[in-house]
Amino acid sequence: MTRHFLKDDDLTPAEQAEVLALAASLKATRHTAEAPTPLAAPGGVPRAVAVLFDKPSTRTRVSFSVGVAELGGYPLVVDAASSQLGRGEPIEDTTRVLDRQAAAIVWRTFGQDRIEAMASVSRVPVVNALTDEYHPCQVLADLQTVIERKGSLAGRSLTYLGDGANNMAHSYLLGGATAGMHVRIGSPAEFRPDPRVLDRAAKIAAETGGSVLWTADPAAAAEGADVLATDTWISMGQEEEYAERVAPFLPYAVDEAALALAADDAVVLHCLPAYRGKEIAAAVIDGPQSAVWDEAENRLHAQKALLMWLLAR
Ligand code: CP
Ligand code: NVA
Repeated sequence: MTRHFLKDDDLTPAEQAEVLALAASLKATRHTAEAPTPLAAPGGVPRAVAVLFDKPSTRTRVSFSVGVAELGGYPLVVDAASSQLGRGEPIEDTTRVLDRQAAAIVWRTFGQDRIEAMASVSRVPVVNALTDEYHPCQVLADLQTVIERKGSLAGRSLTYLGDGANNMAHSYLLGGATAGMHVRIGSPAEFRPDPRVLDRAAKIAAETGGSVLWTADPAAAAEGADVLATDTWISMGQEEEYAERVAPFLPYAVDEAALALAADDAVVLHCLPAYRGKEIAAAVIDGPQSAVWDEAENRLHAQKALLMWLLAR
């Protein structure tokens, strides 16, 4: 059975820990003779990984391109606007063409149903590079960053303030619960997480020793947090809703007051791009507790580990 990574809990707790350990090892051996090149086929011909974008990207595009090359492969980056997929070719037909030529397919798209349709026919691993519902590669990188700063994940509290209904909130719930963390989402009631995701995360947390909580009270969510995270209030595709979306989120900004409520040594995360003075204060993202640049770098290491792990199944 081909393994895919469409959402955070597609990895069991043990598998997530294995991928994160591999990510740390790949980071430590980068640019050395020990760096593995599983995508370099015998005979020296690199295997291709297709990296498809239906939405804009900087970090994901760069980290998958560099990561696939560092694994000895060839990144084939295709934007929707320049492909037949963007003109309406069925997802399944595109997939059947790609999986005969690429070792894996990475896709940033809109609805989760689209990437599920791809995975349902793909004979090679399909990786979610962000959908409207989840951003699981980002949360793998975030967990790697927390391990680097805190030494471990299980039992630590991770608070996310802002849009509780978006891809980052959902992936923190599933990925954090899988890691045995205490995940708290503080958001306006009208932007709370999908109840099905909250339920699923609660079930996972019951097995890992973690917990999940949604609250409309940002101070209660931030209190004592080991990790304080946020994301844009306007996700890709929501630009038209800018005027009505900003006001409800103002009390959920990660500013100096919110950071003061968190643990003294709390680590601040933001997947980027960030909007200073909106969801995060400049003094916080550019301050000493911010880990956002390590977090962005760790996209590279975490995704290399994920691809290696999936290709070895
Ligand atoms: N964090 C993230 O996924 O960034 P990009 O949109 O630039 O890829
Ligand atoms: N929630 C954001 C994440 C960007 C990386 C979006 O979907 O636009």
